[in-house]
Amino acid sequence: MKNMLNEHGMVYIKPDQGTFGTGVIRSSKLSDSEFSYQLGTKKHTFSTFEGMAVSLSHVIGKRKYLIQRGIHLLEYHKRRFDIRVMVQKNPKNQWETTGIIGRLSHPEKIVTNYHSGGTLMSVGTLMSPHTTGSQYAEFQLGLKLLGTEIAKQLQGSYPGLKEIGIDIAVDRRLKPWVLEVNTLPDPYIFRKIGDSAVFRKIHRYCVHYGRFTRKKKRS
Ligand SMILES: Nc1ncnc2c1ncn2[C@@H]1O[C@H](COP(=O)(O)OP(=O)(O)OP(=O)(O)O)[C@@H](O)[C@H]1O
Ligand SMILES: [Mg+2]
Repeated sequence: MKNMLNEHGMVYIKPDQGTFGTGVIRSSKLSDSEFSYQLGTKKHTFSTFEGMAVSLSHVIGKRKYLIQRGIHLLEYHKRRFDIRVMVQKNPKNQWETTGIIGRLSHPEKIVTNYHSGGTLMSVGTLMSPHTTGSQYAEFQLGLKLLGTEIAKQLQGSYPGLKEIGIDIAVDRRLKPWVLEVNTLPDPYIFRKIGDSAVFRKIHRYCVHYGRFTRKKKRS
């Protein structure tokens, strides 16, 4: 963690088996004598790395966590946001990016998860202060391609894969960064906002590959 903070200035520390953004910590090194971390809505500051490490070790205990380089997410009305990209096997057995949705963090939190007080919004709206129309069209196409590329790559290791939900951070240079890939993505977030045809297609594909039916045992 010390090396990564020296290199990147900010890191995310996340439970190995996390959900809903619970337990996710954001830690920063502002100078050689200013360190901080935030968990939930509370920020803790320290004058040494060692002081912070002791405090973190009490929070983390013996559980397994991973440390990731932190990405400074783009903001919309002073709230951070990231993007969920839904990629599914279509009935022609090809990977298709079927939905893209934006997630705006609760103003005092460091995660964007809907179940942690985040708000779902259209990516077009969230990106509008950061892009021109043609830049956005290119950006959106890039996300769709990234989605299918990641699915094809993962399928090499997970041959039964039918759907993934990718959490993507975007930095000021509009570069997308993969934060995590979920193998059981929630399709219903796409019912909450936007075009109802998008949700209908996502649902139709889910039904087609049997997401909602219990797997029958083969004898
Ligand atoms: N490296 C990072 N840089 C910036 N923000 C991050 C980073 N990692 C996570 N976040 C923020 O925290 C949120 C939650 O992190 P993540 O998606 O990795 O865990 P999770 O949603 O709790 O896990 P899971 O989806 O496996 O249940 C992300 O959606 C994003 O807003
Ligand atoms: Mg997530």
